[in-house]
Amino acid sequence: MTTLEAPSRAAGAAAAPYLKRRTFAIISHPDAGKTTLTEKLLLSGGAIRAAGAVRARGEQRRARSDWMKIEQERGISVSSSVMTFERNGIVYNLLDTPGHEDFSEDTYRTLTAVDAAIMVIDAAKGIETQTRKLFEVCRLRDIPIITFVNKIDREGRHALEILDEIQEALALDVSPQTWPVGMGSDFFGVYDPRVNRFYTSEGERGGPFRQTRDVSGLDDPILTGTVFDRVMEELTENVELGSEGYAAFDRDSFLEGHLTPVFFGSALRDYGVEELLDFIADHAPPPHSQPATGGRRIMPDEKAVTGFVFKVQANMDPKHRDRIAFVRLCSGTFRRGMKLKHVRAGKTIAVTAPIFFFAEEREIAEEAYPGDVIGVPNHGQLRVGDTLTEGEEIHVTGLPAFAPEVLRRVRLSDTMRVKQMRQGLQDLAEEGLVQIFKPDLGSNWIVGVVGMLQLDVVVDRLKAEYGTEIGFETVPYTTARWIECDDPQKLSKFIEANRMSVANDRDDKPVFLFKSGWEVNYVGEKNPDIRFRETREIV
Ligand code: G4P
Repeated sequence: MTTLEAPSRAAGAAAAPYLKRRTFAIISHPDAGKTTLTEKLLLSGGAIRAAGAVRARGEQRRARSDWMKIEQERGISVSSSVMTFERNGIVYNLLDTPGHEDFSEDTYRTLTAVDAAIMVIDAAKGIETQTRKLFEVCRLRDIPIITFVNKIDREGRHALEILDEIQEALALDVSPQTWPVGMGSDFFGVYDPRVNRFYTSEGERGGPFRQTRDVSGLDDPILTGTVFDRVMEELTENVELGSEGYAAFDRDSFLEGHLTPVFFGSALRDYGVEELLDFIADHAPPPHSQPATGGRRIMPDEKAVTGFVFKVQANMDPKHRDRIAFVRLCSGTFRRGMKLKHVRAGKTIAVTAPIFFFAEEREIAEEAYPGDVIGVPNHGQLRVGDTLTEGEEIHVTGLPAFAPEVLRRVRLSDTMRVKQMRQGLQDLAEEGLVQIFKPDLGSNWIVGVVGMLQLDVVVDRLKAEYGTEIGFETVPYTTARWIECDDPQKLSKFIEANRMSVANDRDDKPVFLFKSGWEVNYVGEKNPDIRFRETREIV
């Protein structure tokens, strides 16, 4: 049973525990090194004992904590969506974002629950498509970003070229904090001009990080005596140009999302990892306020507990229907057993078995603070976007549902199983895996997803968990938009006139199914009073 200790300030006075929370995610393009970096961050934080544990997660679960008993009894299986660890008095909550682009919707929602993000870039590839997309989401939400240029132990682009690319491609000031000392076959380590430190290997050049050498500057013999002259020349030039040509670190600008500090490193060889954690501890923001309905902002120092569900994960055991809702706490001190109001349902729920997620273990959470994420086991009452409060009638806002890019009609081979199919799709929709649209005319539901891979998952899970085999048929539609109008009569009239193209989503909100991008514009122009929305707030 676990209470993450509330660390106290050096001065003696106890700091509010939330001030010591750093809740963040890693964004990257597949293959840039997110998994490797995650693992190294966890190792540095003492959260795992051996490299390889993150990759092997899920496979070898350890049956020891209280939570494990619940997991076994209820048959819930949860991958490490949240990884909490403590280092030097700071509690880090690292939220995992699925790497595959088909699951980007899940990623977007996870980003609503973080206060900062690390953007991992491959030194040879620079900014890639997925990085750019995720970056845009962070920018929309003013999430401060720390950049980690990974794989400098391999041949990569020139450090200045990478900095310029980030600056130009993302229209963001860059502020280099550390520099590579050579790359690829000339790789010697990392230099930190802020504290005059040279991080290097022991023995063989290019080996894993083993020693920190304090130096007096770039002309220190520790550097000049070991590093090739041509590498020293380049490093000196970089450091000089770096301090003249790029922004100095400015915390306000970073917190506002206008500037990104840049670290060079190699996750595989342990370079730059601790610097990242130290930077997060010193400069990344503690939990911020959360927007809610009625123009309200929930402040982390408020007394009453509020939290919102940003992710729901079902168990993979067909015999059980239990799920875990991942709740990000926004305010108050949560205590195990608390009764919280489930605002959407208008009901009270007792949270008796909240879970903390550590890298290799899960434990019952006795107490949690703003910034923390707790897992709440439930039978399907909680879904993505739900708000929990101590009674207040508010919803946390800003969790988007996206217009699907792939639409398919569900084909059921055994018509006796309509009920199971609908239940299954409804459940998957509540997890946020798919969207469902019930056409006004015709009885076959249409599912919408952001990427094709999600369709395979739907087929597999309906078969495994609901004993129902389904297939998909193409439909003439390519996208959907939620329709809204200030005048309800006008909206009804519009829906009536377009029955063939209108469906209702799982919350019975009307959507217009479009056949082409051209039609989106055409119908939009013809109906200036109707709003056609690409995203919808989930409340
Ligand atoms: P991802 O989660 O972002 O998709 O990336 P992941 O960490 O899985 O890394 C992708 C590949 O890049 C892996 O190689 C990994 O070992 C390698 N890698 C990650 N960081 C570094 C680094 O700092 N330097 C170098 N040289 N390589 C790095 P792989 O061959 O695909 O997998 P594996 O067989 O090595 O595990």
